Amino acid sequence: MKINIHGFEISEPVLSEANKAYNNLLTGTIPSKMTGWLAPRDNEVVVRCTELGAKFAELSDVVVVVGIGGSYLGAKAVAELLPNNGKLRFAGNTLSGAYYEQLLRELEDKDFSVIVVSKSGGTVEPGVGFRIMEQALIARYGTTGACSRLAAVTSSESSLLGNICSANGYTRLALPENIGGRYSVFSAAGLLPLAAGGIDIASLVNGTTASNANRETIVTYAAARQTLYRAGKKLEVLSAWEPNVRWLGEWYKQLFGESEGKDGRGLFPVSLELTADLHSMGQYMQDGERLMFETMLSFNGSADITVPARRGDDDKLNMLSGVKLDEVNRILKEAVISAHLDGGIPVIELIPGRLTAESAGELMHFMMTSCAVSGLTMGVDPFDQPGVEAYKSKAKALFAHQNI
Ligand code: PA5
Repeated sequence: MKINIHGFEISEPVLSEANKAYNNLLTGTIPSKMTGWLAPRDNEVVVRCTELGAKFAELSDVVVVVGIGGSYLGAKAVAELLPNNGKLRFAGNTLSGAYYEQLLRELEDKDFSVIVVSKSGGTVEPGVGFRIMEQALIARYGTTGACSRLAAVTSSESSLLGNICSANGYTRLALPENIGGRYSVFSAAGLLPLAAGGIDIASLVNGTTASNANRETIVTYAAARQTLYRAGKKLEVLSAWEPNVRWLGEWYKQLFGESEGKDGRGLFPVSLELTADLHSMGQYMQDGERLMFETMLSFNGSADITVPARRGDDDKLNMLSGVKLDEVNRILKEAVISAHLDGGIPVIELIPGRLTAESAGELMHFMMTSCAVSGLTMGVDPFDQPGVEAYKSKAKALFAHQNI
């Protein structure tokens, strides 16, 4: 992972605070104990998820992953980022009846399995999704058949979902107590769905070693964000140069938004896909209110496709004939950085190298660690989410008073 800073200088005092915050994170000298994700080298989990995931993939045309927030975004982001078997579908992240009708229609003539991920085991959306998918499994395969096609990843303590698994003989994997949802992609919460999607989860997890060895980049990114926040920036725009990074953007928004947005403070995370969004948000980025800085993410391209030659030059694109698309993309990136700097937007450039399972793992672990360091530097607890709990308890109270 490489980082380049354009258009501003990192404040030395902030850099030193970020270094201290990283030390505190590594040595556990922080109030929170939710750091079980820092060194995810539990080979047993990788082996178990690989085996069970492969079994589900073999049994099924479709594997439905039920979960919301941190309990699905990591798996969804990686499944969009990396080549896979195309069998994963996601549910439990919506209460839309139309969505479930369409999903159930798709399953009518397909074999399927279900993986439910809920740390608390009591969240409404995945709870409803679980009921719908459990019913569909039993209707198709009977109670015994359903048992071999349903697995849950949930906390080891006080999980209603865990109790249901014990009572019905469903396979259950642990989501460790010391790992929060948005930091859970390297636990069974992310690894089991990804293994069912045919993704090389061992390499994904191996990528975390490179991230842990890259202290300087982690601290630089955290300090850069906090320098800009203290200088008055309110938004971080993550712009990525590949369409398959769109869901990583969704994962990033939860990671940083839920970790830092508290006590009336925090950068608001936004994500853009380039070049597509240059034609929707490009105007605001160049000319709108100067609230934001940009973190630009680009993998090194490795595709051979070139711009075709064409007789005549009626489209005035002959200067690109024979040039690799990745090179055109790179030139456009240079142009965008230069234009945005002229427009007063500081840019942080992140370059994870070529896209592989390992570099994807490195990138995600890098972001998780930088996020924790950035939050600690800001003086918030990057591992709690009291604001999310607020709506959950209000919804429970309202449901209890409905006469449905
Ligand atoms: O990151 C988080 O902690 C949240 O987004 C949770 O993952 C989300 O609210 C779902 O909770 P649970 O996994 O308990 O169903």
